[in-house]
Amino acid sequence: MSIVAVAHPNLALVKYWGKADTGLNLPASGSIGISLGAFSTTTRLRLEAANSGSSTWEVSINGRTQDPERFRDFFDEALKGYSGEPRHIVVASENDFPTAAGLASSASGFAALAGAVNRGLNLNLNDSDISALARRGSGSATRSVSGGFVAYPEKAASARQLHRENHWPELRCVIVQVSSGKKAVSSRKAMEASRTTSPYYPAWIEDSRKLVDQARDAIADRDLDALGPVIRRSYLRMFSTMFSADDPVMFWQEASIRVMNIAAELRKNGIAAWETMDAGPQVKIITLETQVEAVLTALEAGRSGADDWVISVSGIGSGLKVREE
Ligand code: DP6
Repeated sequence: MSIVAVAHPNLALVKYWGKADTGLNLPASGSIGISLGAFSTTTRLRLEAANSGSSTWEVSINGRTQDPERFRDFFDEALKGYSGEPRHIVVASENDFPTAAGLASSASGFAALAGAVNRGLNLNLNDSDISALARRGSGSATRSVSGGFVAYPEKAASARQLHRENHWPELRCVIVQVSSGKKAVSSRKAMEASRTTSPYYPAWIEDSRKLVDQARDAIADRDLDALGPVIRRSYLRMFSTMFSADDPVMFWQEASIRVMNIAAELRKNGIAAWETMDAGPQVKIITLETQVEAVLTALEAGRSGADDWVISVSGIGSGLKVREE
């Protein structure tokens, strides 16, 4: 028998960037994200007899074996709640979108892993505990356990759902993958560079509190005119801490800036199109169902023959699902 867990990436509208505790992986800034229903990670887990007196693990992502050390904090935490006989835990994870390219694969990946391990080892964790376990792998993964609109408060152990996926049915995200390459720097390293070397980092943390409150209210009111400027401030202020780090971190590519300008032009023409970016060159444009066509047309017009952009449209997705096969 194997356990199958499916989770969607969670895109932050207000960003988590910086740690309050690196050992426990607690966030210094609160964040609010949405589940991207168009993309998913599917994780299969099976248990084998252990080769030694303690439990061990092996993980592959898209068929590639991963360094087990990257998963040590996660499994050490998970195994604290496990009292059965030692096991070798075999995990195979598949993403239907580019891995480690700034599309939140670690969010859906660790959320799915936490769900699979919880069921496979009979840990009996509730959603909040699963979210806290996912955090040991990756902070943004806390938000991928719930569907819909999710808040991950500053210094909190786990994320919590603000609204279900049907709260704002018209909201859409147009994802423009300008590059499928793996990012050169991990978000973990980049946010540590911001925290430890950018003179703007304290201001970022202070300011992000306001952004969290404003975004929460705008989402409750389903008001994209109010939410859009908050989305833009959050990603640009996050990147300001990277540009001002020693050494600076630059995830943007020339095409990313072109997409930002396309969104700005759309807004000038009265279309609600608010872009955001994460630790990679991809640009995600938050818009409404009625305006998706206009956004796609503008992207088509603005791309050059050399651009091999992959454009997808997503609504708001559900939370983690786990089954046995
Ligand atoms: C820009 O969750 O990947 O996507 O906790 O170190 O694994 P670690 O970081 P990670 O960082 C996410 C950063 C972000 C913003 C966000 O998702 O809130």
